[in-house]
Amino acid sequence: MSYNLLKGKRGIIFGALDENSIAWKTAIRAHEEGGAFVLTNAPVSIRMGQIDQLAKITGSEVIPADATSEDDLKNLVEKSMEILGGKIDFVLHSIGMSINVRKGKHYTDQNYAWTQKGTDVSAISFHKVMQTLYKSDAMNEWGSIVALSYMAAQRVFPDYNDMADNKAYLESVARSFGYFFGRDKKVRVNTISQSPTATTAGSGVKGFDGFIAYAEKMSPLGNASAIDCANYTITLFSDLTKRVTLQNLYNDGGFSNMGVSDAVMEAFIDKQ
Ligand code: NAI
Repeated sequence: MSYNLLKGKRGIIFGALDENSIAWKTAIRAHEEGGAFVLTNAPVSIRMGQIDQLAKITGSEVIPADATSEDDLKNLVEKSMEILGGKIDFVLHSIGMSINVRKGKHYTDQNYAWTQKGTDVSAISFHKVMQTLYKSDAMNEWGSIVALSYMAAQRVFPDYNDMADNKAYLESVARSFGYFFGRDKKVRVNTISQSPTATTAGSGVKGFDGFIAYAEKMSPLGNASAIDCANYTITLFSDLTKRVTLQNLYNDGGFSNMGVSDAVMEAFIDKQ
């Protein structure tokens, strides 16, 4: 169902790799809600993924940008304003990658070159995106910027590895940059802390299937899906949430406030 929540708004959506991507679902929903936007991803992901298909469905253009490259980001922001015909109202940062996770390197045995690369891609890129938008005065007043996070930023999830630290960094950047963006440009900045979701990035985490099943049983409403995340993001892009900023907002079916659930307890109670 469409409510025209983004009618007349212009955006940039990072991170749609394939149809499982949270950014993909968000682009579909943003299009349904009347928003116009540019899609972007790293050049290699554009070659490997299916973003052109999404561009066709949503009538969008694709501009390649490695989110760790300031030059690429500058080019992206300039071109997006040209293509869309004005300043930007909404931005989704949906980017994450850890080489340590990908190559099975344990948290207690990090390859620090990989750790740094992962931090650059997963967390510092969010600062770079915002600094580029801020310096080129590319955001409209009452615009909204959202990045996607995970609860390993606050609690221990052993197999999430260095991505836990990257998410803590990401959430901190949202608050720190969000202050200046709010004060100077009336732009809000938030992170959504999402349930485990079956995507390329999500499934790369060791033991993901067991973990997603555990989270499902712990959450009174069950895990939030990628489309749930897309819908929540749309509300944050809309004018209905104008003074929500500097927040890390849980979209997790209640998981983050649970101690234990009946369904999980059942696995531990003696069955004579
Ligand atoms: P995904 O694999 O579909 O998306 C990750 C995206 O990051 C890909 O499109 C990839 O091309 C992009 N990316 C990687 N390096 C890049 C670079 N240098 N420049 C630009 N883009 C780059 O997976 P998903 O799950 O949709 O991930 C989106 C966000 O949601 C990530 O921040 C992830 O950490 C977060 N998240 C995912 C959860 C899950 O369980 N899937 C749970 C909570 C948060």
